[in-house]
Amino acid sequence: MSKSLKNILGISVAALIFTSSTTTMAGERLGIGSLVSKSVIAGWDIDARPDGHGLPKGSGTVEKGEEVYLEQCAACHGEFGEGAGRYPVLMGGYDTLTTADPQKTVGSYWPYATTLYDYIRRAMPYGNAQSLTTDEVYSVSAYVLFMNDILEEDATLDAQRLAAIKMPNRNGFILPDPRPDVKKTACMKDCKTRIEVKSFARKVAVTPDVKKPQ
Ligand code: HEC
Repeated sequence: MSKSLKNILGISVAALIFTSSTTTMAGERLGIGSLVSKSVIAGWDIDARPDGHGLPKGSGTVEKGEEVYLEQCAACHGEFGEGAGRYPVLMGGYDTLTTADPQKTVGSYWPYATTLYDYIRRAMPYGNAQSLTTDEVYSVSAYVLFMNDILEEDATLDAQRLAAIKMPNRNGFILPDPRPDVKKTACMKDCKTRIEVKSFARKVAVTPDVKKPQ
């Protein structure tokens, strides 16, 4: 979700940079548009990568984050991150991912803590996005991580500390490939020279018979 949004924004920033020099000429010639300044691009270029690249300078605490959270987030996400109504739950769900009813939360599912900063800075509070200061985003990120037992109550968060956090599901996206054919090793010598077709998908009725074109 946030990843695809990030991709879209990433592409648009790249496109702006790429086109700025070529469009200047066309723009001047046709008398339309204006050159995009570095400060305008900076306003769009707010993504934080998993390794922390792109996180701004600043810091926040769990303590301050609690204030921000109760004022600006709890109405939708619940006082303890349990989610009000059908708004997303932000904590817990550990050990549920492999069950029939997985609860995917920041704590149980998200592989990188830096994404939390990126997401909150970009999209929250819902309906009033990008209204928080840098330090408020660090603080409220710290508070969400505290609700998930990932940070202690007295913790302080900045770019370096956030990037150093190892989320519980960090390795949950790298699974052994269960398909039997990937287990076979590739033949490197004395291999068959002729490949035979032993069966057709048509036989098990997954491919309709196709008549050869006249
Ligand atoms: C008006 C209701 C509302 C408020 C207030 C609000 N949120 Fe949200 N939040 C949402 C909704 C709706 C989504 C899901 C958005 C989507 O999937 O596109 C969401 C998603 C999230 C997620 C991602 C959850 C997940 O696992 O996908 C996080 C993290 C989050 N909000 C944090 C915050 C924080 C921190 C604040 C306060 C600064 C906040 N939200 C304020 C409604 C709200």
